Amino acid sequence: MELKRKYAIAAVLLVLIIAWILIPNNVLQTVSDKTTVVLNVFGNRKAATSKSTPKLPLNTSPTDPLEIIRRDCGQLCDTSRKGSPGPYFDHVNADINCQAIFRNQYVDRGHELPHAPKSIPKNLMIEYTMNNRIPVKYWYFDSQYLGKTARSPVWTEKGIEDWIISAKQGKLRGNYGAGETNALRDALKHAPGIVDGRVMVIGSENPWVEACVLEAGAREVFTLEYGSIKSEHPKVKTIVPLDFRMRYLNNTLGTFDAIVTFSSIEHSGLGRYGDALNPWGDIIAIARAWCVTKPGGSLTIGVQYNYDHEYLRFNADRWYGKIRYPYLTTNWKQHYRGKGSQRVHVFTK
Ligand SMILES: *[C@@H]1O[C@H](CO)[C@@H](O)[C@H](O)[C@H]1NC(C)=O
Repeated sequence: MELKRKYAIAAVLLVLIIAWILIPNNVLQTVSDKTTVVLNVFGNRKAATSKSTPKLPLNTSPTDPLEIIRRDCGQLCDTSRKGSPGPYFDHVNADINCQAIFRNQYVDRGHELPHAPKSIPKNLMIEYTMNNRIPVKYWYFDSQYLGKTARSPVWTEKGIEDWIISAKQGKLRGNYGAGETNALRDALKHAPGIVDGRVMVIGSENPWVEACVLEAGAREVFTLEYGSIKSEHPKVKTIVPLDFRMRYLNNTLGTFDAIVTFSSIEHSGLGRYGDALNPWGDIIAIARAWCVTKPGGSLTIGVQYNYDHEYLRFNADRWYGKIRYPYLTTNWKQHYRGKGSQRVHVFTK
């Protein structure tokens, strides 16, 4: 009797152990697969594909904003593609779907958080670092700017005219000192489309870039800035990202002879100014500029530049070099390399 009972208990225990091993494993497997799918929606696409594709129905549209951006961005946001040697760094081409990158409402969205994200989410690391090719440092800012009034909300006509005069004399300090201002002025002399052109300036809190562009002979300046600015200068118009997008889509924006941007787009997609995290924010900003530039027009760009030692300094800015510059300026032809610590480069379309 005693022995039989022991056997019975042992048998029950054995069944329980087997059940415990088998059943939860199945359950756990399912749960963990689901987790993988969710986590990988905007993470490493290769991992998501190899692990999860068989279980997903075919032809599903992505629902995550960053996956939707990636889809609309196409080749442009695939920074693993090879370039070909160019005069200053590699040249990269991509099919840019202009309609898609303007139609996408997520590109310009705000992060909607009380504070800008302090670190890069794990699943975005691969994209931000271009598959670990770009080192990350940290320097944090939390300057809510998107959708708010810009730092100098009124640009007076006299203020801009005074700056044009001091630019002519080589004395305009701008935001970064006379040396950088003069580096920009030098590059503008080499940029097709500036003289008598309709020129778009991307992002400037103060109209020093606009003053340089007018000094160089532009007919009209159109400033695209996160915050709304009121310009009283008859040749300077301003626009916020939402209207820029809407006017492109309803065909009232028109095209530009030249684009000029200095120390601005390197912040795009880092959250610092209230924008949502977007690893391709800078690349898409310059691609949209490409979309609205006339053939033969130009892009003049000054960004923090270090050919061999570029990095991402989250969330302050990006430094550009041989690795990311080719993707930043996708499709643009390298035309002139100027001066400055934010070394000014000119490209043509
Ligand atoms: C085009 O879009 C802009 C910006 O939203 C708007 O102000 C304008 O009225 C629109 N024009 C037409 C013709 O729809």
